[in-house]
Amino acid sequence: MERLRRLPRASTRSGGPHGRPHERLNSGQAHSHGIDPVRGVLFEGPPGTGKTFLAEIMAAQSGATFYLVTISSLGGRLVGESEQRLQAIYDDAATQHLSIIFIDEIDTITGHRDGDASSGSRLVNVFLTNMDGVSKVKNVITIGTTNRAGTIDHALRRPGRFDRELTFTYPAEQDRLDILMSGRHVTSGILDFVTVAANTQGWTAAELGAIWQHAGELAVRAERTAIWNDHFMMGFERADSSRAKKLKEASSSA
Ligand SMILES: Nc1ncnc2c1ncn2[C@@H]1O[C@H](COP(=O)(O)OP(=O)(O)O)[C@@H](O)[C@H]1O
Ligand SMILES: [Mg+2]
Repeated sequence: MERLRRLPRASTRSGGPHGRPHERLNSGQAHSHGIDPVRGVLFEGPPGTGKTFLAEIMAAQSGATFYLVTISSLGGRLVGESEQRLQAIYDDAATQHLSIIFIDEIDTITGHRDGDASSGSRLVNVFLTNMDGVSKVKNVITIGTTNRAGTIDHALRRPGRFDRELTFTYPAEQDRLDILMSGRHVTSGILDFVTVAANTQGWTAAELGAIWQHAGELAVRAERTAIWNDHFMMGFERADSSRAKKLKEASSSA
């Protein structure tokens, strides 16, 4: 089980309507206000658009106890082992003040429910038991990520389960500019971020990151301690051609 360290709340948290610190509704308060507490959120979007990245930021800033669950962290070879691990995470989360259970690539964990007692469908049952409104578990939010919401078990999408969705899309030009400029790279001179941002429509944050990777390698090869615009622009060209190659391979194998 991976329980990440509880980190201090972000100091940038804004004040509430009356200037008091904004308080989170716990599920008991939410009930008394006639609001159903959120139990499950799906992060949906293409690979590389920042779903896991946002989860990591949330882990650092939410003040919640954060559990990161991946298929490999659950993977037990013995029958029932992965369900037990998942249930243990829910049990531990229930004892905390506020918990976020983050299931990365939930479709790879649960798959389709095909009616038999396969490991995927037993895991779906663990989610259903722990997320349903009548369950005892309070103050636990489950977030799942998926590339395609349509591929996950329909039972998980019903009200009271993963009934909120956040869609991640390809970054727009201004976002690409921000992403390119957000890294902590040692640079020298003026880099032409504007041209690269303008010429990377349809690129994901991960693909933009590859530009820096290539540029860094070029700088090292040139025995420079900083990345210059030449490296950056050549890094863009390399990232562009390897991306084009991948897209071509993907379309010919489809
Ligand atoms: N908004 C962003 N700003 C800067 N870098 C980002 C942003 N979103 C994602 N990234 C970077 O892009 C890469 C892919 O993001 P990731 O969260 O793994 O995508 P996903 O989980 O959707 O497949 C990561 O290296 C991450 O650091
Ligand atoms: Mg991811």
